[in-house]
Amino acid sequence: MPFNTDDSLVQTVEASIQKDVSLATYNTFGFSYQAEYFAIADSCESLKVLLAWANRSNVNVTMIGGGSNLLISDHIGGLVIINRLQGMQAHEHPNNLICLTVSAGEKWHQVVEHAVEQSWYGIENLALIPGTVGAAPVQNIGAYGVEIKDVLARVQVMDQTSGDVYWINAKDCGFAYRDSHFKGKWKNKLIITSVELMLKKQADLLLSYGGLANRIDGEPTLRKVFDTVCAVRAEKLPNPETLSNAGSFFKNPIVSQEQHNELKKRFSDLVSFAFEDNFKLAAGWLIDQAGWKGKKSKGVGVYDKQALVLVNYTEQSADALLDLETQIKQSILERYGVELEREPVQLPVQSNTAH
Ligand code: EPU
Repeated sequence: MPFNTDDSLVQTVEASIQKDVSLATYNTFGFSYQAEYFAIADSCESLKVLLAWANRSNVNVTMIGGGSNLLISDHIGGLVIINRLQGMQAHEHPNNLICLTVSAGEKWHQVVEHAVEQSWYGIENLALIPGTVGAAPVQNIGAYGVEIKDVLARVQVMDQTSGDVYWINAKDCGFAYRDSHFKGKWKNKLIITSVELMLKKQADLLLSYGGLANRIDGEPTLRKVFDTVCAVRAEKLPNPETLSNAGSFFKNPIVSQEQHNELKKRFSDLVSFAFEDNFKLAAGWLIDQAGWKGKKSKGVGVYDKQALVLVNYTEQSADALLDLETQIKQSILERYGVELEREPVQLPVQSNTAH
Protein backbone atom coordinates (compact mmCIF):
# COMPACT_ATOMS: atom_id res chain seq x y z
CA MET A 1 0.00 0.00 0.00
CA PRO A 2 1.62 3.26 -1.08
CA PHE A 3 0.66 5.48 1.84
CA ASN A 4 0.93 2.83 4.55
CA THR A 5 3.48 4.30 6.99
CA ASP A 6 4.01 3.77 10.70
CA ASP A 7 1.83 5.83 13.03
CA SER A 8 4.51 7.53 15.10
CA LEU A 9 6.25 8.81 11.95
CA VAL A 10 2.93 10.07 10.61
CA GLN A 11 2.29 11.95 13.84
CA THR A 12 5.78 13.47 14.00
CA VAL A 13 5.80 14.54 10.37
CA GLU A 14 2.28 15.96 10.38
CA ALA A 15 3.10 17.87 13.58
CA SER A 16 6.08 19.45 11.79
CA ILE A 17 3.85 21.17 9.20
CA GLN A 18 3.88 24.93 9.82
CA LYS A 19 1.45 27.59 8.64
CA ASP A 20 2.28 30.90 6.85
CA VAL A 21 6.04 30.58 6.63
CA SER A 22 8.19 33.14 4.80
CA LEU A 23 10.10 31.66 1.86
CA ALA A 24 12.70 34.47 1.85
CA THR A 25 15.53 32.13 2.83
CA TYR A 26 14.35 29.35 0.50
CA ASN A 27 14.84 31.22 -2.79
CA THR A 28 18.14 32.81 -3.81
CA PHE A 29 16.38 35.95 -5.10
CA GLY A 30 15.38 36.43 -1.46
CA PHE A 31 11.77 37.36 -2.28
CA SER A 32 9.64 37.30 0.81
CA TYR A 33 6.44 35.48 -0.12
CA GLN A 34 4.73 33.02 2.20
CA ALA A 35 3.92 29.34 2.00
CA GLU A 36 0.42 28.59 3.27
CA TYR A 37 1.72 25.30 4.72
CA PHE A 38 5.41 24.43 4.98
CA ALA A 39 7.44 21.34 5.83
CA ILE A 40 10.88 19.84 5.33
CA ALA A 41 11.18 16.28 4.00
CA ASP A 42 14.36 14.55 5.17
CA SER A 43 13.46 11.00 4.08
CA CYS A 44 11.31 9.28 1.45
CA GLU A 45 9.01 8.07 4.25
CA SER A 46 8.41 11.58 5.57
CA LEU A 47 7.88 12.84 2.01
CA LYS A 48 5.18 10.17 1.56
CA VAL A 49 3.48 11.24 4.79
CA LEU A 50 3.48 14.87 3.63
CA LEU A 51 2.02 13.98 0.23
CA ALA A 52 -0.69 11.85 1.87
CA TRP A 53 -1.53 14.75 4.19
CA ALA A 54 -1.77 17.15 1.23
CA ASN A 55 -3.99 14.72 -0.70
CA ARG A 56 -6.29 14.27 2.31
CA SER A 57 -6.40 18.01 2.93
CA ASN A 58 -7.00 18.65 -0.76
CA VAL A 59 -4.15 21.15 -1.12
CA ASN A 60 -1.52 21.53 -3.86
CA VAL A 61 2.07 20.51 -3.30
CA THR A 62 5.10 22.58 -4.37
CA MET A 63 8.59 21.13 -4.01
CA ILE A 64 11.61 23.37 -3.55
CA GLY A 65 15.24 22.21 -3.63
CA GLY A 66 17.98 24.81 -3.18
CA GLY A 67 15.69 27.56 -4.53
CA SER A 68 18.47 28.79 -6.82
CA ASN A 69 16.59 28.57 -10.11
CA LEU A 70 13.27 29.93 -8.90
CA LEU A 71 11.32 33.10 -9.45
CA ILE A 72 8.70 33.22 -6.70
CA SER A 73 6.27 35.99 -7.60
CA ASP A 74 3.38 35.49 -5.15
CA HIS A 75 2.35 33.68 -1.99
CA ILE A 76 2.15 29.93 -2.54
CA GLY A 77 -1.11 28.25 -1.55
CA GLY A 78 -1.07 24.64 -0.33
CA LEU A 79 1.93 22.78 1.04
CA VAL A 80 5.50 23.80 0.19
CA ILE A 81 7.97 20.97 0.86
CA ILE A 82 11.71 21.56 1.06
CA ASN A 83 13.54 18.54 -0.32
CA ARG A 84 16.33 17.52 2.08
CA LEU A 85 16.61 13.82 1.18
CA GLN A 86 20.24 12.87 1.94
CA GLY A 87 22.57 10.06 0.88
CA MET A 88 25.13 9.03 -1.70
CA GLN A 89 26.31 5.54 -2.73
CA ALA A 90 28.84 4.50 -5.34
CA HIS A 91 29.06 1.13 -7.12
CA GLU A 92 31.65 -0.12 -9.55
CA HIS A 93 30.21 -0.79 -12.98
CA PRO A 94 31.71 -2.64 -15.95
CA ASN A 95 33.84 -0.69 -18.47
CA ASN A 96 35.59 1.40 -15.82
CA LEU A 97 32.42 3.23 -14.87
CA ILE A 98 31.21 4.31 -11.46
CA CYS A 99 27.51 4.40 -10.79
CA LEU A 100 26.83 7.15 -8.25
CA THR A 101 23.38 7.25 -6.70
CA VAL A 102 22.61 10.54 -4.94
CA SER A 103 19.51 11.63 -3.05
CA ALA A 104 17.74 14.71 -4.32
CA GLY A 105 18.36 16.96 -1.31
CA GLU A 106 22.16 16.78 -1.49
CA LYS A 107 23.96 19.91 -2.71
CA TRP A 108 25.07 19.55 -6.33
CA HIS A 109 28.47 21.20 -5.87
CA GLN A 110 29.35 18.85 -2.99
CA VAL A 111 28.69 15.89 -5.30
CA VAL A 112 31.04 17.42 -7.90
CA GLU A 113 33.71 17.95 -5.22
CA HIS A 114 33.33 14.35 -4.04
CA ALA A 115 33.64 13.01 -7.60
CA VAL A 116 36.81 15.07 -8.17
CA GLU A 117 38.33 13.84 -4.87
CA GLN A 118 37.64 10.25 -5.94
CA SER A 119 39.10 10.88 -9.47
CA TRP A 120 35.78 10.20 -11.18
CA TYR A 121 35.33 12.11 -14.43
CA GLY A 122 32.20 13.60 -16.00
CA ILE A 123 30.82 16.42 -13.84
CA GLU A 124 33.89 18.62 -13.20
CA ASN A 125 32.66 21.20 -15.77
CA LEU A 126 29.48 21.51 -13.71
CA ALA A 127 31.34 22.73 -10.60
CA LEU A 128 29.96 25.58 -8.46
CA ILE A 129 26.43 25.40 -9.89
CA PRO A 130 24.22 26.27 -6.93
CA GLY A 131 21.22 24.17 -5.94
CA THR A 132 20.36 20.60 -5.13
CA VAL A 133 20.80 17.32 -6.98
CA GLY A 134 17.03 16.93 -7.39
CA ALA A 135 16.74 20.28 -9.13
CA ALA A 136 19.59 19.56 -11.55
CA PRO A 137 17.62 17.39 -14.03
CA VAL A 138 14.59 19.73 -13.96
CA GLN A 139 16.37 22.36 -16.06
CA ASN A 140 19.09 19.97 -17.30
CA ILE A 141 21.86 22.09 -15.76
CA GLY A 142 24.77 22.77 -18.06
CA ALA A 143 28.07 24.62 -18.28
CA TYR A 144 31.24 24.52 -20.38
CA GLY A 145 29.91 22.02 -22.90
CA VAL A 146 28.49 19.48 -20.42
CA GLU A 147 24.86 18.98 -19.39
CA ILE A 148 23.67 16.68 -16.63
CA LYS A 149 21.88 14.57 -19.25
CA ASP A 150 25.32 13.50 -20.58
CA VAL A 151 26.13 11.64 -17.35
CA LEU A 152 22.67 10.78 -16.07
CA ALA A 153 21.53 7.15 -16.29
CA ARG A 154 18.20 7.25 -14.42
CA VAL A 155 16.06 9.50 -12.23
CA GLN A 156 14.08 8.14 -9.29
CA VAL A 157 10.71 9.79 -8.77
CA MET A 158 7.77 9.70 -6.38
CA ASP A 159 4.28 10.02 -7.82
CA GLN A 160 2.63 12.94 -6.02
CA THR A 161 -0.78 11.30 -5.98
CA SER A 162 -0.04 7.66 -5.20
CA GLY A 163 3.29 7.93 -3.37
CA ASP A 164 4.71 5.21 -5.68
CA VAL A 165 8.47 5.36 -6.20
CA TYR A 166 10.08 4.23 -9.46
CA TRP A 167 12.98 4.93 -11.84
CA ILE A 168 12.79 6.62 -15.25
CA ASN A 169 15.60 6.22 -17.79
CA ALA A 170 17.31 9.49 -18.66
CA LYS A 171 16.52 9.11 -22.34
CA ASP A 172 12.78 9.25 -21.52
CA CYS A 173 12.97 12.52 -19.55
CA GLY A 174 12.69 14.85 -22.57
CA PHE A 175 16.03 16.53 -21.91
CA ALA A 176 16.86 19.53 -24.08
CA TYR A 177 18.75 22.79 -23.57
CA ARG A 178 17.72 23.91 -20.04
CA ASP A 179 14.56 21.84 -20.34
CA SER A 180 12.96 18.48 -19.43
CA HIS A 181 9.54 16.90 -18.83
CA PHE A 182 9.99 17.81 -15.15
CA LYS A 183 9.54 21.46 -16.20
CA GLY A 184 6.69 20.47 -18.54
CA LYS A 185 4.24 17.60 -18.52
CA TRP A 186 5.51 16.06 -15.24
CA LYS A 187 5.38 19.36 -13.34
CA ASN A 188 3.19 18.90 -10.24
CA LYS A 189 2.98 15.15 -10.87
CA LEU A 190 6.40 13.66 -10.13
CA ILE A 191 8.92 14.56 -7.44
CA ILE A 192 12.59 13.70 -8.00
CA THR A 193 13.88 11.68 -5.03
CA SER A 194 17.24 10.45 -6.35
CA VAL A 195 19.49 10.38 -9.42
CA GLU A 196 21.92 7.83 -10.80
CA LEU A 197 25.04 9.28 -12.44
CA MET A 198 27.43 7.27 -14.59
CA LEU A 199 30.97 8.61 -14.11
CA LYS A 200 34.24 7.50 -15.66
CA LYS A 201 37.37 6.27 -13.92
CA GLN A 202 39.41 6.94 -17.03
CA ALA A 203 40.50 10.48 -17.88
CA ASP A 204 38.06 12.21 -20.25
CA LEU A 205 38.20 16.01 -20.08
CA LEU A 206 36.22 18.49 -22.18
CA LEU A 207 38.06 21.79 -22.48
CA SER A 208 36.83 23.19 -25.77
CA TYR A 209 34.18 25.53 -24.34
CA GLY A 210 34.38 28.98 -22.81
CA GLY A 211 38.16 29.28 -23.16
CA LEU A 212 38.80 26.67 -20.43
CA ALA A 213 41.86 25.24 -22.21
CA ASN A 214 43.55 28.67 -22.38
CA ARG A 215 43.23 29.16 -18.65
CA ILE A 216 44.93 25.92 -17.65
CA ASP A 217 48.74 25.90 -17.20
CA GLY A 218 50.55 22.75 -18.32
CA GLU A 219 48.97 19.34 -18.59
CA PRO A 220 45.21 19.53 -17.83
CA THR A 221 44.05 17.34 -14.93
CA LEU A 222 40.67 16.70 -13.35
CA ARG A 223 41.57 18.92 -10.39
CA LYS A 224 42.84 21.75 -12.63
CA VAL A 225 39.63 21.72 -14.70
CA PHE A 226 37.53 21.78 -11.53
CA ASP A 227 39.58 24.65 -10.05
CA THR A 228 39.44 26.61 -13.32
CA VAL A 229 35.66 26.24 -13.71
CA CYS A 230 35.26 27.41 -10.10
CA ALA A 231 37.54 30.41 -10.75
CA VAL A 232 35.78 31.43 -14.00
CA ARG A 233 32.33 31.14 -12.43
CA ALA A 234 33.41 33.10 -9.36
CA GLU A 235 34.64 35.92 -11.64
CA LYS A 236 31.52 36.12 -13.82
CA LEU A 237 28.62 35.05 -11.63
CA PRO A 238 27.51 36.64 -8.37
CA ASN A 239 27.47 34.38 -5.30
CA PRO A 240 23.79 34.17 -4.29
CA GLU A 241 24.86 34.24 -0.64
CA THR A 242 26.18 37.78 -1.03
CA LEU A 243 24.06 39.14 -3.92
CA SER A 244 20.61 37.64 -4.52
CA ASN A 245 20.20 36.10 -8.00
CA ALA A 246 19.16 32.91 -9.80
CA GLY A 247 22.03 32.51 -12.29
CA SER A 248 21.23 33.10 -15.95
CA PHE A 249 17.85 34.77 -16.08
CA PHE A 250 17.35 34.17 -19.82
CA LYS A 251 18.10 31.22 -22.05
CA ASN A 252 20.46 31.76 -24.95
CA PRO A 253 17.95 32.12 -27.83
CA ILE A 254 18.07 29.68 -30.72
CA VAL A 255 17.52 31.23 -34.17
CA SER A 256 17.43 29.90 -37.74
CA GLN A 257 20.46 30.14 -40.04
CA GLU A 258 18.66 32.85 -42.04
CA GLN A 259 17.95 35.01 -39.02
CA HIS A 260 21.49 34.43 -37.81
CA ASN A 261 22.95 35.54 -41.15
CA GLU A 262 20.85 38.69 -41.17
CA LEU A 263 21.86 39.55 -37.63
CA LYS A 264 25.51 38.90 -38.44
CA LYS A 265 25.27 41.40 -41.32
CA ARG A 266 23.93 44.07 -38.98
CA PHE A 267 26.11 43.17 -35.97
CA SER A 268 29.42 41.80 -37.21
CA ASP A 269 30.71 41.02 -33.69
CA LEU A 270 27.56 39.06 -32.70
CA VAL A 271 28.50 36.16 -30.39
CA SER A 272 26.86 32.93 -31.56
CA PHE A 273 27.45 29.17 -31.72
CA ALA A 274 26.24 26.57 -34.22
CA PHE A 275 23.56 24.51 -32.44
CA GLU A 276 22.12 21.47 -34.19
CA ASP A 277 20.83 22.96 -37.51
CA ASN A 278 20.44 26.42 -36.01
CA PHE A 279 22.42 29.01 -34.08
CA LYS A 280 22.46 29.81 -30.39
CA LEU A 281 23.01 33.49 -29.64
CA ALA A 282 24.79 34.66 -26.48
CA ALA A 283 21.90 36.42 -24.74
CA GLY A 284 24.46 38.05 -22.42
CA TRP A 285 26.03 39.72 -25.44
CA LEU A 286 22.64 40.88 -26.85
CA ILE A 287 21.65 42.40 -23.50
CA ASP A 288 25.10 43.88 -22.88
CA GLN A 289 25.26 45.52 -26.36
CA ALA A 290 21.77 46.93 -25.87
CA GLY A 291 23.21 48.90 -22.95
CA TRP A 292 21.69 47.05 -20.01
CA LYS A 293 24.77 45.77 -18.20
CA GLY A 294 25.04 47.25 -14.70
CA LYS A 295 21.70 49.13 -15.04
CA LYS A 296 19.65 49.43 -11.86
CA SER A 297 15.92 49.86 -11.60
CA LYS A 298 14.31 50.27 -8.16
CA GLY A 299 15.98 47.61 -5.97
CA VAL A 300 16.95 45.24 -8.78
CA GLY A 301 19.37 45.34 -11.69
CA VAL A 302 21.46 43.70 -14.38
CA TYR A 303 24.71 42.29 -12.97
CA ASP A 304 27.69 44.42 -13.97
CA LYS A 305 29.99 41.51 -14.88
CA GLN A 306 27.47 39.32 -16.75
CA ALA A 307 24.40 40.83 -18.41
CA LEU A 308 22.54 37.50 -18.44
CA VAL A 309 22.14 37.61 -14.67
CA LEU A 310 19.53 39.76 -12.95
CA VAL A 311 20.18 40.60 -9.32
CA ASN A 312 18.06 41.71 -6.40
CA TYR A 313 19.66 44.30 -4.15
CA THR A 314 16.82 45.23 -1.81
CA GLU A 315 13.38 44.15 -3.03
CA GLN A 316 11.03 41.98 -0.92
CA SER A 317 8.67 41.33 -3.85
CA ALA A 318 9.25 40.28 -7.46
CA ASP A 319 7.40 43.25 -9.00
CA ALA A 320 10.48 45.35 -9.84
CA LEU A 321 12.24 42.31 -11.30
CA LEU A 322 9.25 41.40 -13.47
CA ASP A 323 9.18 45.02 -14.69
CA LEU A 324 12.86 44.93 -15.55
CA GLU A 325 12.38 41.62 -17.34
CA THR A 326 9.60 43.12 -19.47
CA GLN A 327 11.75 46.14 -20.36
CA ILE A 328 14.75 43.99 -21.33
CA LYS A 329 12.62 41.61 -23.44
CA GLN A 330 11.02 44.54 -25.23
CA SER A 331 14.36 46.19 -25.92
CA ILE A 332 15.92 42.97 -27.27
CA LEU A 333 12.91 42.31 -29.48
CA GLU A 334 13.04 45.85 -30.91
CA ARG A 335 16.78 45.86 -31.47
CA TYR A 336 17.38 42.33 -32.79
CA GLY A 337 13.92 40.87 -33.53
CA VAL A 338 14.73 38.10 -31.01
CA GLU A 339 12.42 36.96 -28.23
CA LEU A 340 14.13 36.14 -24.96
CA GLU A 341 12.81 33.29 -22.87
CA ARG A 342 13.07 33.23 -19.08
CA GLU A 343 15.25 30.48 -17.61
CA PRO A 344 14.23 30.09 -13.91
CA VAL A 345 11.03 28.30 -12.97
CA GLN A 346 8.21 30.57 -11.81
CA LEU A 347 6.19 29.85 -8.67
CA PRO A 348 3.34 29.63 -7.87
CA VAL A 349 2.90 27.35 -10.86
CA GLN A 350 1.00 29.19 -13.60
CA SER A 351 -2.23 27.47 -14.66
CA ASN A 352 -1.13 27.16 -18.29
CA THR A 353 1.43 24.34 -17.96
CA ALA A 354 1.00 22.61 -21.33
CA HIS A 355 4.34 21.76 -22.88
N1 EPU B 1 28.83 38.14 -23.17
C1 EPU B 1 28.93 39.52 -23.28
N2 EPU B 1 28.48 40.28 -22.25
C2 EPU B 1 27.97 39.76 -21.12
C3 EPU B 1 27.87 38.37 -21.01
C4 EPU B 1 28.31 37.56 -22.04
O1 EPU B 1 29.39 40.05 -24.28
O2 EPU B 1 27.58 40.54 -20.24
C5 EPU B 1 29.30 37.32 -24.29
C6 EPU B 1 30.76 36.95 -24.13
O3 EPU B 1 31.39 37.25 -25.34
C7 EPU B 1 30.78 35.45 -23.94
C8 EPU B 1 29.43 35.00 -24.46
O4 EPU B 1 28.56 36.12 -24.34
O5 EPU B 1 31.80 34.87 -24.70
C9 EPU B 1 28.89 33.87 -23.64
O6 EPU B 1 28.95 34.21 -22.26
P1 EPU B 1 29.37 33.15 -21.13
O7 EPU B 1 30.52 32.34 -21.55
O8 EPU B 1 29.46 33.89 -19.83
O9 EPU B 1 28.18 32.12 -21.11
P2 EPU B 1 26.64 32.39 -21.19
O10 EPU B 1 26.11 32.05 -22.51
O11 EPU B 1 26.37 33.75 -20.69
C10 EPU B 1 25.98 29.97 -20.41
C11 EPU B 1 25.03 29.37 -19.42
C12 EPU B 1 25.62 29.44 -18.01
C13 EPU B 1 26.94 28.67 -18.02
C14 EPU B 1 27.87 29.30 -19.07
C15 EPU B 1 29.17 28.54 -19.24
C16 EPU B 1 22.79 29.68 -20.29
C17 EPU B 1 21.51 30.44 -20.18
N3 EPU B 1 23.75 30.06 -19.45
O12 EPU B 1 26.11 31.35 -20.08
O13 EPU B 1 24.72 28.80 -17.12
O14 EPU B 1 27.55 28.70 -16.75
O15 EPU B 1 27.22 29.29 -20.35
O16 EPU B 1 28.96 27.38 -19.95
O17 EPU B 1 22.90 28.78 -21.10
C18 EPU B 1 22.85 29.19 -15.66
O18 EPU B 1 22.19 28.45 -16.40
O19 EPU B 1 22.35 29.73 -14.65
C19 EPU B 1 24.23 29.48 -16.01
C20 EPU B 1 24.95 30.35 -15.31
